[in-house]
Amino acid sequence: MTDIAQTGTFQLGDRTVKRLGYGAMQLAGPGVFGPPRDRAAAIAVLREAVAQGVDHIDTSDFYGPHVTNQIIREALHPYPDDLVIVTKVGAKRGADASWNPAFSAEELTQAVHDNLRNLGVDALDVVNLRLMFDVHGPAEGLIEAPLTVLAELQRKGLIRRIGLSNATPRQVADGRRITEIACVQNQYNLAHRGDDAFIDDLAAAGIAYVPFFPLGGFSPLQSDTLSEVAAGLGATPMQVALAWLLRRSPNILLIPGTSALGHLRENLAAADLALPDAAMAALDRIGAA
Ligand SMILES: NC(=O)c1ccc[n+]([C@@H]2O[C@H](COP(=O)([O-])OP(=O)(O)OC[C@H]3O[C@@H](n4cnc5c(N)ncnc54)[C@H](OP(=O)(O)O)[C@@H]3O)[C@@H](O)[C@H]2O)c1
Repeated sequence: MTDIAQTGTFQLGDRTVKRLGYGAMQLAGPGVFGPPRDRAAAIAVLREAVAQGVDHIDTSDFYGPHVTNQIIREALHPYPDDLVIVTKVGAKRGADASWNPAFSAEELTQAVHDNLRNLGVDALDVVNLRLMFDVHGPAEGLIEAPLTVLAELQRKGLIRRIGLSNATPRQVADGRRITEIACVQNQYNLAHRGDDAFIDDLAAAGIAYVPFFPLGGFSPLQSDTLSEVAAGLGATPMQVALAWLLRRSPNILLIPGTSALGHLRENLAAADLALPDAAMAALDRIGAA
């Protein structure tokens, strides 16, 4: 079995987690809506992740909605002491599966209570405020009002640490004046590198950067260069994509998502892969192209 601890650890708020974690979004039904086709398989994936040493799971109560958190609870509660579950608020789902902003004090408070109830915990380890000024990517907009609501719930003891998702550097700077920001979760992978400078700044500040869509998300990464590098190393393209992120910066924490046990094992085995300099250089050219 792969020893995922060999990828090292990084601070996530007041906790320390291994750099290879797991993203639970794929455990809901098609379109991240409704129940999964195979609930037993979803439970098996979560249990295998923890059995392999994963101590960082990313989720949200708007996956399903509610479904993913309920599956996490069924699979893993009572949770291991070292497990950090990171959730996110700021959106709600329409009956048509749409993703809609939900930033009022009432909606944010409701979302925190939904997460507490469905995960079966008294306090949430980390809550990311998922910004929706542009649903598809970071866009400027004032975050003081919603972040202050979360900071108040933190003071009440319902939230331990707060992060930002789909956020710009300015929003993170604004947020740090209101409360400590534990992590930033934005879209980033070897073909989508808009946050390169931001990641370096966060690393200097000791803040974790957690890329979503590390494997390309709904359209998994495809590149001749990636396939060639993988073939040369006797690895799969997805393993190389993860190994590239691990080498890219020490503050990057991985949460690749999968609903399949085989893919989970493959992804965690990326911990065994050390990318040579020449492979890094070739992979760096994908994002530059
Ligand atoms: N903050 C945000 O706005 C936001 C947005 C999106 C996601 N997220 C978080 O980020 C996590 C990761 O993102 P993601 O799951 O959307 O995207 P991802 O990790 O980039 O990729 C997941 C996709 O890749 C497939 N896959 C996984 N491992 C594979 C492998 N070894 N070989 C081939 N295909 C593989 C999965 O299908 P199978 O199920 O068939 O393996 C799924 O279709 C999510 O779980 C969620 O927690 C956050």
